[in-house]
Amino acid sequence: MPEPFGLLAELTYRCPLACSYCSNPLELAAYDDELTTAQWQRVFTEAAELGVLQCHLSGGEPLLRRDLVDLVRTAAGLGMYTNLVTSAIGLSRSRAEGLRDAGLDHVQVSVQADEPATADRIAGIPAFERKLRAAAVVKELGWPLTVNVVLHRQNVDRVAEIIALVEDLDADRVELANTQYYGWAWRNRAALLPSREQLAGAEEVVRAARARLAGRMEIVHVLPDYYAEYPKPCMGGWAARQLTVAPNGDALPCPAAQTLPLPRASVRDQSLRAIWEDSPLFTAYRGTGWMRDPCRSCDRRETDFGGCRCQAFQLTGDAARTDPVCHLSPDHALVTDAVEAANAPAGRDEVLVPRPHRG
Ligand code: SF4
Ligand code: FES
Repeated sequence: MPEPFGLLAELTYRCPLACSYCSNPLELAAYDDELTTAQWQRVFTEAAELGVLQCHLSGGEPLLRRDLVDLVRTAAGLGMYTNLVTSAIGLSRSRAEGLRDAGLDHVQVSVQADEPATADRIAGIPAFERKLRAAAVVKELGWPLTVNVVLHRQNVDRVAEIIALVEDLDADRVELANTQYYGWAWRNRAALLPSREQLAGAEEVVRAARARLAGRMEIVHVLPDYYAEYPKPCMGGWAARQLTVAPNGDALPCPAAQTLPLPRASVRDQSLRAIWEDSPLFTAYRGTGWMRDPCRSCDRRETDFGGCRCQAFQLTGDAARTDPVCHLSPDHALVTDAVEAANAPAGRDEVLVPRPHRG
């Protein structure tokens, strides 16, 4: 039985932003009944007992939880490395000081673009300037700062300017993340999927920046999987290294797994260990026994685990099929068709549909 390394604690799906690339579930009303402070503290205790070493406090916007300082104190007290994944809206200096005193180890701030007009259009509210001020507070209080920028068709041409902004913020690390096409991002896929030409331009900028900033700032950037030959080993394998707990207590092998037609598992009804070890949801695609061809007989099956189960389900309606991103998948045309559309002249005119706001 593998031991989980990281817990993604999605404390709430409430959020001051309304990003058009949001991959959280569309039916947010189902998550209004959030776990209480005591229930989260129990989840953290059980996670530590299972071997979890890293606790990522995320959302939605985790700062909207009034008990965030208490939750950080509990997770830190259990010896877990604590990471706040935040839009930084609401990260005042006094709030930040409270979190630091509670033992928070690391802060990851999302930024949507390098200048206010684009950033605020993507975020759905004027947030850019407030984010920059909050990022400065993170550095002043001595935390390591990661800036996360989700890249897509609307901002990828400005990667050089984005890296310059992150340098100005004195960040230790920038994650140039690819859009995950779930939730609202799935609806907006045509307006978000970049073209080949855009990606080639970004690659060149990133290569030069990595050389220039070596030893000062880490730049994380990988080719979007729609353009790759093989899929990524999503989550390091299904229920192998990571687990997610959603705001309502649903335990999931990955943040998008609530879309799959498998029985729910809730920390309200069962211990985290029982869910991790025995629930149908966590055992469904663990290891390689569930695979069919071409994965079953492929020598990469222990490397990428057949790719992403949620993407296989999203694109084919069957989570046990090979991720269509793989060029060996019989469903690969589902990906190449989307890529061709993104590279056709009409692809440039796709418009982002704004995500409704739910604060
Ligand atoms: Fe990975 Fe399956 Fe493709 Fe082989 S066939 S590379 S295991 S996704
Ligand atoms: Fe669920 Fe990849 S996002 S397995």
